[in-house]
Parts: sequence; structure tokens; C-alpha cells
Amino acid sequence: MEIFKYSASISKEISSLKNHGISFGFVPTMGALHEGHASLIRKSKSENNFTVVSIFVNPTQFNNPGDLEKYPRTEKEDLKLIEDLGVDFVFMPEISEIYPEKDLRIFDFDGLDSVMEGQFRPGHFNGVAQVVSKLFKIIQPDKAYFGKKDFQQLAVIRMMNQKYFGNKNIKIVACDIVREADGLAMSSRNVRLSPEHRKSAVNISQTLFKYQKNNKNYTVNQLKNLVTKEIDADKNLKTEYFEIVDNTTLKPVEQIIPGKTTGCIAVFAGDVRLIDNVSFS
Ligand code: PAJ
Repeated sequence: MEIFKYSASISKEISSLKNHGISFGFVPTMGALHEGHASLIRKSKSENNFTVVSIFVNPTQFNNPGDLEKYPRTEKEDLKLIEDLGVDFVFMPEISEIYPEKDLRIFDFDGLDSVMEGQFRPGHFNGVAQVVSKLFKIIQPDKAYFGKKDFQQLAVIRMMNQKYFGNKNIKIVACDIVREADGLAMSSRNVRLSPEHRKSAVNISQTLFKYQKNNKNYTVNQLKNLVTKEIDADKNLKTEYFEIVDNTTLKPVEQIIPGKTTGCIAVFAGDVRLIDNVSFS
């Protein structure tokens, strides 16, 4: 496994291998890796000759400085996990390497970025697009892997790839949510949960699963109210939003269309903000 700190050196190495017909899969991450990340890496390994993982805690996507400061950093463990998975290249740049100067680009995602996460984390997706667009240019992968755990991020990245990269060279691959045994969606933030909040957090996915299964018995408004009410009945949890949206436009729907509708939620468990989603069929 080779570790790169500089864009120029990893770009050069990759383009020379691509000239020899080697295909590249790319898994962008912010580190604090867990089985969710590992599943993306395994998928990339199975579909490409070489796999590149980036670890970069991107400051421009954190609208809250406290959240950036508290973001878990576990570099040593991350590198061990990546090495054990058989990753070929790791890209771990300093902030100054990615942002030698302030990135002033404003992306336009036709409103995809202003609902849900975008409403509560203004500027978040613009920051994600800034870093991912830079990483795409540096790595120039054949395929890039993203988790459905960040459902809205996936939609934004797909649109970025289409609008700003002409959907030409990079194929975006969506990967299923990996969950803990009790159903909690894996997240780098889970390590920050107190034991009591960790116990409560199970109610998020369990409530989503319950109404995913029974969705035909309720209207969309009833589902929204029931999910929020049941989760907030736990004193350790506070729902920020629960929206039932169209998979492509991310606009709220009035009626569930099986296979085309997803329920997306953000919940505070103490001061830890968790997101999850389920698709309705
Ligand atoms: P990060 O939160 O580290 O996640 C990296 C990738 O792992 C994302 O595509 C995310 O959706 C996926 N992932 C996280 N938890 C998962 C789970 N439980 N199951 C499946 N996939 C999961 O998302 C980011 O970093 C950043 O925004 C990034 C794209 C790297 C840009 O900075």
C-alpha cells in the first residue's frame, strides 16, 4: 500500500497506470473508518484493478466549527483497516494541499442541496461538492463509491458528476447502508454516543423499519407524525426532520410510490447528530 500526501504525485502515478490499462475505483472518506466504509472499499476492490481511498476531514463542509473540532480522528487504526482490506493507494493530503487558496466556487444543484440536510446545514453540500470535485480531478477514477447512508449526498454527487463532469468518465456506484446488529446505521459519529444515548439510538432505525413495513396503512402526513412522535418519546432523542421524498428530486411527496420514495431522518441523540433513511416499497 502506498500513501500519498501530494496531489501531483498521486495524479502522476495513477495516470501512468491508467495508460497501461489499469482501472481505478475511488472511495472518498473523512476517516474514522468502520464497516460501512469497508463495504465500499470491498465493492471497489471487486470491480476495479486498483482501489484508492482518500482520508480528508474537509473543513468546507462543516457549517458548525464545534462539529469539525469534535470529528473523530483515528489515523493509525484507519491505515491498518485499509491495509488489511488490500487497498492500493491512500491519499491523505493536508488542508493546504486541497485548499491552497479559499475555494469560492458555488455549485448549483437545482435545489437538491437546499432541502433536509441543506436546510439545517447551510453550505454543507457546496463544501462536499468543492472537495469531491477536486478529488475527482486529482484521482480521475473510473468508478467512485458512495454510501446510501448519506442519501442526499449521493443525489448531489450524481448531479455534480452530470452537470460539472458531463457524466463522461466517472461512474458513481451507490452502496447499501451497513448497520450494527441492532439496526443502528454505522457512522463515524456513533463513537461519540454515551452508553445511554447509544441504547436510545436504536429507536431511530427500529421506528423507521416499523413504518417502512406498515407504510400502506397510513398517509404520508400520518407517517411523518407517527415516526417523529415515537422517536421523540425517548427523552434522549430529538428529531430535527423526517421527510418522505422523491428519490430523484428529493421533494416531499404527498403519496408513496413504491420503489421511488425514501424517508430521510436526522435526529439528535444528546449532542450527536445522526442521520438515517429507508426506502419505501
Ligand atoms: P464519510 O462520512 O467518511 O463517508 C464516506 C463514505 O462512506 C460516504 O459515501 C458514506 O455514505 C459512506 N458510509 C458512511 N457510513 C456508511 C454506512 N453505514 N453504510 C454505507 N456507507 C456508509 O461522506 C463523507 O465522508 C464526506 O462527505 C465525503 C464524501 C468524503 C466528502 O468529504
